[in-house]
Amino acid sequence: MNIPLCDLYAQYLTIKADIDAAITRTIVHSSFIGGEELQAFEAEFASYCESKACVGVGNGTDALYLALRGLGVGPGDEVITVAHTFIATAETITLTGARPIFVEIKEDTMLMDPDALESAITSRTRAIIPVHLYGQPCDMDGIMEVASRHQLKVVEDAAQAHGARWRGKRVGSIGDVGCFSFFPGKNLGAYGDAGAVVSQDEQLIRRIRMLANHGRMDKYMHEYEGVNSRLDGLHAAVLRVKLRHLDAWNEARRRHARQYMEALRDSGAKLPVVHPHAEPVWHLFVVRVGDRDSMQTVLQKQGIAAGVHYPVPLHLQPAYKYLEIPEASLPVTERVAAHVLSLPMYPELSRDQIEVISRAVIEAASAERLEARRACAF
Ligand SMILES: Cc1ncc(COP(=O)(O)O)c(C=O)c1O
Repeated sequence: MNIPLCDLYAQYLTIKADIDAAITRTIVHSSFIGGEELQAFEAEFASYCESKACVGVGNGTDALYLALRGLGVGPGDEVITVAHTFIATAETITLTGARPIFVEIKEDTMLMDPDALESAITSRTRAIIPVHLYGQPCDMDGIMEVASRHQLKVVEDAAQAHGARWRGKRVGSIGDVGCFSFFPGKNLGAYGDAGAVVSQDEQLIRRIRMLANHGRMDKYMHEYEGVNSRLDGLHAAVLRVKLRHLDAWNEARRRHARQYMEALRDSGAKLPVVHPHAEPVWHLFVVRVGDRDSMQTVLQKQGIAAGVHYPVPLHLQPAYKYLEIPEASLPVTERVAAHVLSLPMYPELSRDQIEVISRAVIEAASAERLEARRACAF
């Protein structure tokens, strides 16, 4: 049996008629750039995120970059985030001319530790980017409290967390601005690169909309220089169809997470911890195991595609050598990165498939324990 990490074709088959009709409709109307599909999607996604406004952009990386620029972050500023994330989170800080500052994550949730923020704040700090990694909402109480005390902006990186809630509120709607990726494998994915920014601040969204469209006020009048980063009409049409299914798909992911939790309870693998105020959407189901690389190889041999998100924390990446952050500076982050393993997770997974995966993990973990005992005996 081959089980991928995520199966986009299986999902397409469940909504084929609506997707095909939406694509045809967009082509018939030639609504490729701007147009009614985009406008409708922006309104529907803003409402889904319980936010006042939304602007579609080219991808999640641009969503973060444009949000930071819209908030006025630029050269000389510092922005605090975590090193246990995809590079886009930090890359976009650098793109604005600011400097990324990495803080620790919490050992249990693997998310930004609000207690680590205070000591990272300087007179140059402008913003904080919490990352709702794996579909797990960060501790937004702690983060918002520090941010408001220091008058810092909060840019939520919600690229992996469409629909997740913190204390009943949708992620993306809690900070000053929320940034989403619609990369195909995300909980809400387009058929190519796409992204969006949401906010309760309609003026901010207006600014970001202009930045994403060459600083345009009018066709050939430009208030400032921007970029070309728009959400295509075809993607908007696809996303509108998929948005109608998102809650059901997230519910399926929750069901799968419950089954994994139950099956792997005594496996020896460290299971995800959910904060009592969090309602995650399980973009990934990430366990921690002793010998991650050999477990991944064992699963691969059985046709199970497990992933690693992410093997090398950002502060230890060649791209961030210039920050001169030595190894062991973020011990929790580094420990987590060494042990994380993402098991297959997508709505269309069957109970049988999860059973097969869980059995394989249990067997691999017990073989590993046996091996360790043998090694100790010599
Ligand atoms: C946490 C996080 N932030 C930002 C991004 C960037 O999104 P995109 O790939 O759409 O540019 C991603 C995408 O993988 C992500 O996982």
